[in-house]
Amino acid sequence: MSLDGKIAIVTGGSRGVGKAMAMGLAKSGAVVVVAARTEIETPHLRGTIGMTVEEIRQAGGEALPVVCDVTDETGVGRMVSTVMDRFGRVDILVNNSGIAFPARTWEMPLKRWELVLRVNLTGAFLCARAVLPGMMERKAGSIINISSIQATQKGSVDTGLAYGVSKAALERFTVGLAAEVAPFGIAVNCLKPRGAVDTEGMRYLHASADKTRWDPPDMMIKACVFLAAQGAGGITGLVATDEEITERLKGRD
Ligand SMILES: NC(=O)c1ccc[n+]([C@@H]2O[C@H](COP(=O)([O-])OP(=O)(O)OC[C@H]3O[C@@H](n4cnc5c(N)ncnc54)[C@H](OP(=O)(O)O)[C@@H]3O)[C@@H](O)[C@H]2O)c1
Repeated sequence: MSLDGKIAIVTGGSRGVGKAMAMGLAKSGAVVVVAARTEIETPHLRGTIGMTVEEIRQAGGEALPVVCDVTDETGVGRMVSTVMDRFGRVDILVNNSGIAFPARTWEMPLKRWELVLRVNLTGAFLCARAVLPGMMERKAGSIINISSIQATQKGSVDTGLAYGVSKAALERFTVGLAAEVAPFGIAVNCLKPRGAVDTEGMRYLHASADKTRWDPPDMMIKACVFLAAQGAGGITGLVATDEEITERLKGRD
């Protein structure tokens, strides 16, 4: 599926699932804006926006690193302005930035609860709100929100309940926003990994976990590229795992 000439923003593209999707979108022809906070690598967490951009360029793609904290309204506005100044439009937004804080509810500090909701939910709202006027004007666009099976699974031990709550809300946001912007030709979908994915963040949070059944982040690419190519005339308002989408695509290659 070709995304030639499309301008895509991937939040949280400095590592993990976001990095894999940024690489996949670039390989399909999109110019990718890698938006996250890390410019200088820390010893405990690999990955920076510059490293992802460098890998995309080395693979023959085009990319731009832009520093952005998705919880900062002004910073999100600045990031989108940078993209608009440079490329004139945003065709695809992947709201991938996400965090978890694994604590039982009675031990959860308010500050952490609020931060999880701010990054995972409010961050997606802020980024969507910032790109929508341009998409609405051009009557085209695709927004993909990255959720988790924790949105609907019972239990909370591994990720903390705030994480599942934020992802459930993100799914509701997806369906509601899809309905709001369908008249403007914009698709809004929610994509979630079928299970645990082997990323820097997961390894940091669950250092002693059995990683043998974790999937590689690349498994999200096919579904992400497919959804990125949608407009409101195609698939919109869908909440699905990568596996469900690749199942749909079988026989199309
Ligand atoms: N890994 C899994 O098993 C799994 C399963 C289901 C869903 N997911 C979802 O997939 C997405 C990525 O997860 P991952 O495992 O790849 O996580 P990760 O390795 O920890 O990466 C998280 C990304 O989010 C960015 N981020 C965090 N806070 C941010 C902020 N305030 N502003 C901007 N960016 C921020 C980080 O960039 P900076 O630190 O550079 O800002 C980083 O690029 C998340 O939405 C997660 O919920 C993951």
